[in-house]
Amino acid sequence: LALKPWNREDIAFPEQYSRRGRQVMGSFIDSSLSLLARQTHPVISLAMGCPGPDAFPLDDIARVVGEIMGREAAVALNYGPTEGDALLRRQLLEAEAVASDLEVNPDCLIVTSGGMQGLDLVNKLLINPGDIVVAELPSYSNGLATVHNYEGRLTQIPLDAEGLSVAECRNRFDKAAVKPKLFYVIPSFQNPSGITMSLGRRHELLDLARSYRAMVLEDDPYGDLRFEGESVPSLFALDKERGTVISVRTFSKIFSPGIRVGWVLAPRNVIAKMVAAKQSMDTCTNILGQKIVGRLMAEGTMRRHILRLRQEYRLKRDLMLASLDRRFGREPGFTWTRPEGGFFLWMTFPEGVSAEALFPVALAGGVAFIPGPAFTVHGGLTNAVRLCFTYPLTHEIDEAIRRLRTAYQSSSARRIGQP
Ligand SMILES: Cc1ncc(COP(=O)(O)O)c(C=O)c1O
Repeated sequence: LALKPWNREDIAFPEQYSRRGRQVMGSFIDSSLSLLARQTHPVISLAMGCPGPDAFPLDDIARVVGEIMGREAAVALNYGPTEGDALLRRQLLEAEAVASDLEVNPDCLIVTSGGMQGLDLVNKLLINPGDIVVAELPSYSNGLATVHNYEGRLTQIPLDAEGLSVAECRNRFDKAAVKPKLFYVIPSFQNPSGITMSLGRRHELLDLARSYRAMVLEDDPYGDLRFEGESVPSLFALDKERGTVISVRTFSKIFSPGIRVGWVLAPRNVIAKMVAAKQSMDTCTNILGQKIVGRLMAEGTMRRHILRLRQEYRLKRDLMLASLDRRFGREPGFTWTRPEGGFFLWMTFPEGVSAEALFPVALAGGVAFIPGPAFTVHGGLTNAVRLCFTYPLTHEIDEAIRRLRTAYQSSSARRIGQP
């Protein structure tokens, strides 16, 4: 058969790209998955924030898929309500009542296609080109990319041990004529640093945002994954009924990212606008996925699964911390965070080390991570890396850190060797 090749580089009239289309930004993190898939040697990935390959409740999922196909296949395989599947919505509202003593009105909830769609919807509804958005430094690359793609002007403000530095925000903006419109924060087990915003800092942030008439976008995929320490209420709960906070959640980290189910809590009018916007994006979130999650929640399996994850991920975090201590702890210049939950820790190498230069050496040596600059819009944090401790298997963790050490040694030897 003579196939006609089709491999054209660009559209016929490239000047027809929109301004947004011209400057569209992706994510190094997501691209790392395809980069890793292209490797022909075995690599332990500490790069992408994935649940462990052994972390899915496969038997329970198979069982409920069977039940759904037996009892409501024709509904599960059709379009569904944009607001979300009724059972899942009820379960989410009940879970919120248990977690934060709030009886959230059903009109204040929408089910989304993962957390990313929640972030996209918030930016779509709030951001005009040039609006100032404050994000943490470092912050989640895809969240930063969303702001960028809606042409928001990002200012990243450093984190300290208690979360976003509100004092630094005040320094920057109290006297400025134009205030931020939105604070984009990941308050619990932050991606990438693992840091959790303290209760006091949460109140300070809410006070500051209100004083600027700014909104707060709370991105909270990890809040349910606390291994130790005291739980801190979400910004959404602390805001009470004031309407300052839009909270974006997802099942990606506590259940499955492939299933693409998340949700948003926000004032009724925001949700109504999100429903309208979602109708021109994807009509509804994957119904089968919603039904799986709804049933697992209703029968209590999801709760038990999250409890199991907390134990397993705590063990993995401890293994990584112990390995870092053994392999890097005796030398000055190396630091890392000790997260009380979530997926990541943040490691800093001595001044002058380039994480981006280290990356290909480490990859060739069989370990992958995300270099610090991926979590910035204006560069910097060049000697830092994000390490995901949940994805590698327990027996791979020390080996991954050993490979990181070897890569560091060989790349620093090369640096010293070069004039
Ligand atoms: C802080 C943060 N927000 C949002 C997301 C995206 O979630 P989802 O995969 O559900 O779209 C992630 C995933 O890594 C994340 O870490």
